[in-house]
Amino acid sequence: MTFVATVLTLYPEMFPGPLRTSLAGRALGQLWSLDTRNIRDFATDRHRSVDDTPAGGGAGMVLKADVLAAALDSVSDADEPRRPMLAMTPRGAPLTQARVRDLAAGPGAIILCGRFEGFDERIFEARALEPVSIGDYVLSGGELGAMVLLDACVRLLPGVMGAASSGEEESFDAGLLEYPHYTRPVTWEGRTIPEVLRSGDHARIAAWRHEASIRDTRLRRPDLTLRHGGVKQAPPSGAQRDE
Ligand code: ADE
Repeated sequence: MTFVATVLTLYPEMFPGPLRTSLAGRALGQLWSLDTRNIRDFATDRHRSVDDTPAGGGAGMVLKADVLAAALDSVSDADEPRRPMLAMTPRGAPLTQARVRDLAAGPGAIILCGRFEGFDERIFEARALEPVSIGDYVLSGGELGAMVLLDACVRLLPGVMGAASSGEEESFDAGLLEYPHYTRPVTWEGRTIPEVLRSGDHARIAAWRHEASIRDTRLRRPDLTLRHGGVKQAPPSGAQRDE
């Protein structure tokens, strides 16, 4: 197995969910495996409680550190290298394609999913958990985030995407959005595919695509342009080729 995923959740029935279909689904059981554990199975009291009220007061409930630790400790990773342990939370570092590539190149991941107000903060240090967010919005739990992360990793596993898409020229690889795509018919609702893409001139096409990537990144994702220190080859701001 190339990539081994273990998900700790209060809702194991949510998995594999959408990961059962398409690219990830076809590779499941062949190139990657998915195992879920119910956090509730590690509760120790009569009521099988997994959460408690927040210290200091306030709304919501907090997942208990002792229960989370027992769940995490039940995943015995005897093999080296050990899989990274991630916790899905909007308080985490935003997931990036670079982190996804790193994870996909490794042995897999152990992913802890939260619900309610979150995790008792002490679990992060005590079990070297890496907090991961899939974006600046709040989901009702980490499960969908874990699925997003797994889908992004699994499609990069050798053999999953096939020859058609090597994953080598994708959005974010060079800190840029991918260039736009077109397909037949050449003219649709009065809109025509840019001439350069029909020219057969591979050098011109590559140059056009690179410029389109830079233009769209500037327009749609100025944060990416800033993060990557600006793009040297960019045309003057707002300039667009009329092809
Ligand atoms: N759980 C709730 N919101 C989340 C987010 N944005 N990313 C990851 N896990 C979450």
